[in-house]
Amino acid sequence: MLDRRRLNVGKELQPCFYIATFGCQMNMRDSEVLSGLLNRAGFTLTNKPEKADIIIFNTCSVRQHAEDRVFSLIGEYKKRQKKKMPGTVPIIGLIGCMAKNYQDKIFNKAPDVDFVVGPSDIAKIPEIIERLLASKKKEPSLFQLKIWETDGEARPEEIYHTGFYEDKKHAYLVISEGCSNFCSYCVVPYVRGPLRHRHYKDILAEIEEAIDKGVSEITLLGQNVNAYQYEGVNFVGLVELVNSVKGLKEFGFMTSHPKDASSDLFKAISGLDKLKKSLHLPIQSGSDRILKLMNRGYSKRFYLDLVDNYRKIVGGGTLTTDIIIGFPSESEADFKETYNLVKDVGFNSAYIFKYSLRPHTEAVKMPDDVTKKEKEGRHALILELQRSISERKRC
Ligand code: SAH
Ligand code: SF4
Ligand code: F3S
Repeated sequence: MLDRRRLNVGKELQPCFYIATFGCQMNMRDSEVLSGLLNRAGFTLTNKPEKADIIIFNTCSVRQHAEDRVFSLIGEYKKRQKKKMPGTVPIIGLIGCMAKNYQDKIFNKAPDVDFVVGPSDIAKIPEIIERLLASKKKEPSLFQLKIWETDGEARPEEIYHTGFYEDKKHAYLVISEGCSNFCSYCVVPYVRGPLRHRHYKDILAEIEEAIDKGVSEITLLGQNVNAYQYEGVNFVGLVELVNSVKGLKEFGFMTSHPKDASSDLFKAISGLDKLKKSLHLPIQSGSDRILKLMNRGYSKRFYLDLVDNYRKIVGGGTLTTDIIIGFPSESEADFKETYNLVKDVGFNSAYIFKYSLRPHTEAVKMPDDVTKKEKEGRHALILELQRSISERKRC
């Protein structure tokens, strides 16, 4: 018998879980993967956190703001449930990139959390929840068990094959995990581990499974998809294979790193009938000095040539980017270079972020010396510029 003081489950019902997802598409896909695993283990997904027996936060560490939001939401969700269902207390899990970033320190920062699981340990979550439920059954008044698993190195391939996709038409599909680029501001290589590629046969098998479920559009995911390499098949080889899958109508990919993008890729975008004519190519800064400090591995000139090439080969293809404002030591002149680049290139849209100092990274050793006010001023300027460009390009 499950204890109903802690779990608000009905007589015959299985415990239900709610997942709050933060961060990138990779995390969105991970939440689906976890939903599939938990469904398989007999749990039921709910979209009402106040009714859930298990609340899971699938978190992002890319900027401080994303982490702060999670910490404040944990208490809020619990309070909400107490109000709606007095006497019940959900099991709370914190998974994803913050789990790897802070490991068991999460329990000090957020004492309500019962389990902490890193991105490479996702397959262990159903069993961890069973253990928490069993411990509660034995000793309901002493629900003190805290479990953390954050040191796994690889994910088993099976987790991608539960057939669970949130959207009936479109599916996200992981082609590679982790990142080995170590851009100096970025926490991803530390929380997601080194770049690993899935076998192309497994990727194609998953696409076919998704199509059997009714999906007709997919987005291939990786932190740097252009670096894909498995037994002689590179990214261009992979998109050619994907293009030939029967039943697939359209597909795209993200994210491309400029240092690994090539004319061959642009020719594939232009030539393959199912591949979307769009490219997300993060520039991050228009200043060569800052690009070097960021360890991006390309110059402004290289990026601009790439853009010219893309536009020549993929006539009418859309182009989007990411930009970081206020990286350590960014001067007015550096910022002006980014501003002018945005003006000259004319992106269809751009994500513009204020630099956020991240633990583990190389940039943490540099003083975060662009003031909050300067960051906000530059952010607003570039946002306004991009807004006007996007508006012009829309019509
Ligand atoms: N792998 C992708 C995206 C990674 S994270 C790539 O290389 O482009 C998504 C975006 O978050 C990055 O492109 C970058 O613009 C931004 N970002 C990463 N770390 C950041 C930090 N410390 N502060 C502010 N923005 C950051
Ligand atoms: Fe982070 Fe750079 Fe890797 Fe992108 S390529 S995830 S910005 S380290
Ligand atoms: Fe965030 Fe992790 Fe994605 S840090 S951006 S959720 S890989």
